[in-house]
Amino acid sequence: MFITFEGPEGSGKTTQIQQLYTYLRGQGYPVMLTREPGGTSIGDQIRAILHDPRNTDMRPEAEILLYSASRAQLVAQVIRPALARGDIVLCDRYADSTLAYQGYGHGLDLDLLRRITAFATGGLIPDLTIYLDVPVEEGLRRKQAAYRAGTAEWNRMDAQTVEFHRRVREGYLRMAAAEPERWHIIDATAPPEAVQAAIRQVVEQRLISSHRVHREHRE
Ligand code: TMP
Repeated sequence: MFITFEGPEGSGKTTQIQQLYTYLRGQGYPVMLTREPGGTSIGDQIRAILHDPRNTDMRPEAEILLYSASRAQLVAQVIRPALARGDIVLCDRYADSTLAYQGYGHGLDLDLLRRITAFATGGLIPDLTIYLDVPVEEGLRRKQAAYRAGTAEWNRMDAQTVEFHRRVREGYLRMAAAEPERWHIIDATAPPEAVQAAIRQVVEQRLISSHRVHREHRE
């Protein structure tokens, strides 16, 4: 099962995905955790270019190709082999981030982005996408606080305007509404323990039903 986490800035998804990873491992599931951009040696080098606040002149077209290059490496080197082994793969951001940030945020053509993404991933789509929703101002405030506390980076994307981040969030909500069987929206303004409990409930439900489908298939 391929599970992705999405959300605007400051949604807390990195903390939540790590807690889910620890929990599932504790339950005895084979599970791996990775993130975008990055997750491979080449991907981490691309991440450094993408997030460097000095790269203020980066074109949105270059940005999408760099994210896609990192994604192509990650899918081929890490995600597909793990899925083939039967692991649950948890990924902190995936192709929906491209549609949200480069598509809805920067206004690049959504169909073109979908084609580039399909090329980069060989058409790999998550089985489940957990979307942690937080209002833009609240998310940016949390991110700034984490940056000041030294627990988060302040990257090139964080420096975009509030309007940009509003379009990103709107885009996420639209995508979630368009594909409700894959997306699951969780209110990330709730206390972190409540958010984690809601995530576990959704994931365990999916794991149980996918186990049942596989068993029926075998019988
Ligand atoms: P994060 O590590 O805090 O999730 O930051 C990743 C940043 O990269 C975040 O601002 C969203 C951005 N991003 C895109 O703009 N497009 C993409 O395709 C991906 C994967 C991330």
